[in-house]
Amino acid sequence: MQKVDMIIKSRGDWLTLAQEQPGPRCGASMDELTVKQNQAIAITEDRITAIGPVADILESYSSENVLDWGDRLVMPGLIDPHTHPIFLATRENEFQMRNLGKSYVEIALAGGGIRSSVRSLRQASEDELTELALKRADGFLALGTTTIEAKSGYGLSTEDEIKSLRAIRRTNENHVIDLEPTFLGAHEIPDEYREDRNAYIDLIIQEMIPAVAKEKLARFCDVFCEAHVFTVEESRRILNAAKQHGMEIRIHADEIESTGGAELAAEVGALSADHLGAISPLGIERMRDAKVVATLLPGTSFFLNLDCRAPGRKMIDAGVAVALATDFNPGSCHTQSLFMIMTIACIHYGITAAEAITAVTVNAAYTLGLDQDRGQLKAGMRADIIGVDAPNAAFLPYKFGDNPVRAVVKNGKLVSHLSTSCS
Ligand code: NIG
Ligand code: FE
Repeated sequence: MQKVDMIIKSRGDWLTLAQEQPGPRCGASMDELTVKQNQAIAITEDRITAIGPVADILESYSSENVLDWGDRLVMPGLIDPHTHPIFLATRENEFQMRNLGKSYVEIALAGGGIRSSVRSLRQASEDELTELALKRADGFLALGTTTIEAKSGYGLSTEDEIKSLRAIRRTNENHVIDLEPTFLGAHEIPDEYREDRNAYIDLIIQEMIPAVAKEKLARFCDVFCEAHVFTVEESRRILNAAKQHGMEIRIHADEIESTGGAELAAEVGALSADHLGAISPLGIERMRDAKVVATLLPGTSFFLNLDCRAPGRKMIDAGVAVALATDFNPGSCHTQSLFMIMTIACIHYGITAAEAITAVTVNAAYTLGLDQDRGQLKAGMRADIIGVDAPNAAFLPYKFGDNPVRAVVKNGKLVSHLSTSCS
């Protein structure tokens, strides 16, 4: 009998997402969930030691800490591969303006949008931003998300971008959630460079990227490649500079207008191209061939009430690996719930619950280069596990607007009790 730190058992459905091969799931394999019941999982420190039928696990392993999750559904902690959690003020005023007829682009061109978040973030200290991000991390965790990608991008000066990335680092150090940092200095042209955009791009390339790289503050570099923001040519220059400094690439691409962002993602070997509401047919082909994951953000087109929804169904059918993310930010999508995102994705993209679940676990992990570490319940993987109040996988996107998460284990530790009926 081997002693372990924790055993969790449940009579309910287990979605392990375990796969033999490394890499993302694409095509039909996104829809394949092997579902088992009456399983248990043995955990040592922050790793999964073994998983299998309850009787087998209890025969081979013992623990002073056996959690009975009743008939909860058990699955890997969710992974959110696109968030903007470092901001000061919220922008509910813009939500109201949009609902009364103004568009996102109109608000942005009039000085609102990202630039208004920049003005407020510049007033905030690193301590304040860290404090806020820690609270937001609690919010993600309660919703079953155990890893997030986290972008800077509301600073847009060397000092304020560094301040934002340091806040991400400190949040990561002081919270159980893992934050994977992305430098997004190319989120918008700030007010002081509106008349000289080339000077801002030079600043990103010559000053910001080297400074970020020197302090090892970001794993990834992202660009908002979009009409009215950064052109393909400008994005290419910035991303190539980031690559030379050892960063991996993700791109906000073709969100509202098709400008060739998806094609650029394929060209520069991005891990992920995100949004893609207006992706071209050629973009789909290029992404498939270059094995760039499409991280779709259905909450954003929903929240902005835009018709340009990414062709999620078409992309999966074409063999592109799809991930889903919240895009949590103060402007274009203010939700932290990947369950809500799964619901919108199923409705707006015409995808299955299984495809949506694969998109927030295995495929999301892959876009962060973490697929050998998390996103699956399998021996050797990190013990990030959630217990959900749902009778089966199809129920997850079906019941919408509430939080079905009843227990969260992060790095092998039970971090939140959300229901008295479940320990
Ligand atoms: O992903 N698209 C660019 N960035 C965010 C929007 C941020 C904002 O409006 O503040 C996004 O939607
Ligand atoms: Fe975004």
